[in-house]
Amino acid sequence: MKDKDDTKERSMHHHRLQRKLVDLTKKLFANPTVFVILLMLSYALGYISSPTFNSSRHTPPPNSPNPSIFQLTNLPTQLDNFRVTTRCANPIPPQNARQLIIDRLFNGTSPYSNFPPPHVTQLLRARRIKGWGSYGAVFSRLINKVKPRIIIEVGTFLGASALHMSNLTRQLGLDTQILCIDDFRGWPGFRDKFKDIQMINGDILLYYQFIQNVMYLNASESVLPVPYSSGSALTTLCEWGVTGDLIEVDAGHDFNSAWADINRAWRILRPGGVIFGHDYFTAADNRGVRRAVNLFAKINGLQVRIDGQHWVIDSAGNM
Ligand SMILES: C[S@@+](CC[C@H](N)C(=O)[O-])C[C@H]1O[C@@H](n2cnc3c(N)ncnc32)[C@H](O)[C@@H]1O
Repeated sequence: MKDKDDTKERSMHHHRLQRKLVDLTKKLFANPTVFVILLMLSYALGYISSPTFNSSRHTPPPNSPNPSIFQLTNLPTQLDNFRVTTRCANPIPPQNARQLIIDRLFNGTSPYSNFPPPHVTQLLRARRIKGWGSYGAVFSRLINKVKPRIIIEVGTFLGASALHMSNLTRQLGLDTQILCIDDFRGWPGFRDKFKDIQMINGDILLYYQFIQNVMYLNASESVLPVPYSSGSALTTLCEWGVTGDLIEVDAGHDFNSAWADINRAWRILRPGGVIFGHDYFTAADNRGVRRAVNLFAKINGLQVRIDGQHWVIDSAGNM
């Protein structure tokens, strides 16, 4: 009985308190000054507690287990997420690279065997070569300096720069293999300017015309296509232990493509080798090549040297 009375008493007390609070709130909000002050106070509290409020007071110490949004927006830290982490196999001897690629990519048959197949014979030109900055002095300078056994070109198109490099290595009496990574699709709409590159059922004959160019210039012993997307091809070469002494990056020119290609290519650059690429100083660099190169160099503490329209990074630091 006593318990029941206590509960009733507590409930009445609670009720009275609630009524008092409601009355007080009504009075406060009836006063416009108090209303405005309360409004401003709640806005300020919300702003300070929002994640975009930029105050160093809110930044946890550097080694905090709960890094703040401000620490995460630290660029080099965030870009760690984009680093290529594929494990590369131990480097294979350079003289084994060509046969490995023929075995693994072409079932042991050279892509030059029985070329051209009958269905494209009439559609190819004897020689159709066009490139961009493909004969710059940088090629001869770097080949003279590096004397590469393996050159990896990322972005080949019709083979202008690859065939120029093949010619330079031949003149120097070097035994060099040039691996040409390209999906040989060009880019959407490229045939507006290359109408003579034929198409069969929507399949552009860029690859066949490249093979034709290589054979026309008797370079099939030193130039080998790797006809896949740059990302998958560079990753695969890394997994197979194929490394380059000299790597040219000249495929996609937007920031993301250039960034990905440079990072992947760097993984398979022989220590002491040189990586370089086109369009550091042309209209195309606005699409991202220069930004990607500069950011890559900055993060890795490397020097970028400019050579004509090309950028050059020497992994040995010899400028
Ligand atoms: C500017 S052209 C290369 C020109 C060549 N280096 C020269 O100077 O003669 C760019 C080439 O990159 C290739 N390419 C673009 N993005 C690619 C990707 N993600 N994977 C493979 N090839 C790509 C295109 O098919 C095109 O042939």
